[in-house]
Amino acid sequence: MNYKPSTMIPLFKVFMASEVLDALKEVLYSGFVAQGPKVDEFEAKLSEFFGNPYVVTLNSGTTALHLALDLIGVGPGDEVITTPMTCTATNWPILAHGATIVWADIDPATGNIDPASIQKRLTAKTKAVMAVDWGGYPCDIQTIKKIVGNIPVIEDAAHAIGAMYKGKMVGNTADYTCFSFQAIKHLTTVDGGALLTKTKKDYKKAILLRYFGIDRNKRSNDYRIEKDISMWGYKFHMNDVNATIGLANFSHTIEILQKHRDNAMYYRNAFMGLPWLTLMHEDARYLSSNWLFTMKVRRSARFMDYMKSHNVMASKVHRRNDTHPVTRAFRRPLPNVDTFYRDMVCIPVGWWVTQEDREYIADLVRSFPG
Ligand SMILES: Cc1ncc(COP(=O)(O)O)c(C=O)c1O
Repeated sequence: MNYKPSTMIPLFKVFMASEVLDALKEVLYSGFVAQGPKVDEFEAKLSEFFGNPYVVTLNSGTTALHLALDLIGVGPGDEVITTPMTCTATNWPILAHGATIVWADIDPATGNIDPASIQKRLTAKTKAVMAVDWGGYPCDIQTIKKIVGNIPVIEDAAHAIGAMYKGKMVGNTADYTCFSFQAIKHLTTVDGGALLTKTKKDYKKAILLRYFGIDRNKRSNDYRIEKDISMWGYKFHMNDVNATIGLANFSHTIEILQKHRDNAMYYRNAFMGLPWLTLMHEDARYLSSNWLFTMKVRRSARFMDYMKSHNVMASKVHRRNDTHPVTRAFRRPLPNVDTFYRDMVCIPVGWWVTQEDREYIADLVRSFPG
């Protein structure tokens, strides 16, 4: 190993296009910075990208999850089947709705919720199922939908922009798909998110729910004095400042995704055959966004220390959600989460990881005593 990074190679890095500043300057001094034409333009771009006309931009991925639960009508007494292997943002909205979390186990080969475990958890009270695309690898939504019948499925695709599931862009299969444009995602608006729906009815309701029950594109002459609000809504909309940042960054998203994928492929080839390391399973019909590169290793705590001591960040990224005091009431045995969480670790895979970096990282991983 001749090359050694002088500073830590990070797990995440904010991508900000150089064009952002000029575009922002124009919007910031235009006299209009709230939700307006830039949001419309960003939504149109996203619709085209996802191949779904029903895209509702929001101020975060978390609010997209809140809206999905609202559209389903989740409330006290309802059960939501979900996974603990995710960011708290996935599950805390379920608590905010007063519903009961029902943990399903995961498929340890992917880290995603296990459809067979969902089947075992179904009851008459099940109101929704939450499926998280761990690290950007799509959940098997078709199988989940077959199992749950008419129960709506929310796909938390915060990690998975650009991921493909059986030839379709993620964002077209679940009843509701939630994306995040938070700081360290492939596409950032600094903070932001989007909810994609399957039906026009849900789309129209989401437009109202995101802004006080008002469709801002249907203003009356005196737009501050709406007189016909028939339902309440939140203040969850995206504004033109965030949308402007999103538009500038959006033109780099394909390139960014490709870099993540190239680095992931490089690691998969480099780590094959190591007896103490297990690669994640990949179905040829799915294409991950590779937001994370997760693998399972023996003695993961030692492995992370080893990597960090050689200037490569390594982490589990998200703590399993079922061990927090706030979710204590819902605890149950989850043997696959136990082993997955014990062994899994993520190493830098993103657009900032250069050829030199990845060669260094691969050599370092292979040199771990195991
Ligand atoms: C799996 C998952 N879901 C939801 C979110 C929430 O997204 P946001 O930070 O945009 O609210 C995140 C955040 O990073 C996430 O990792």
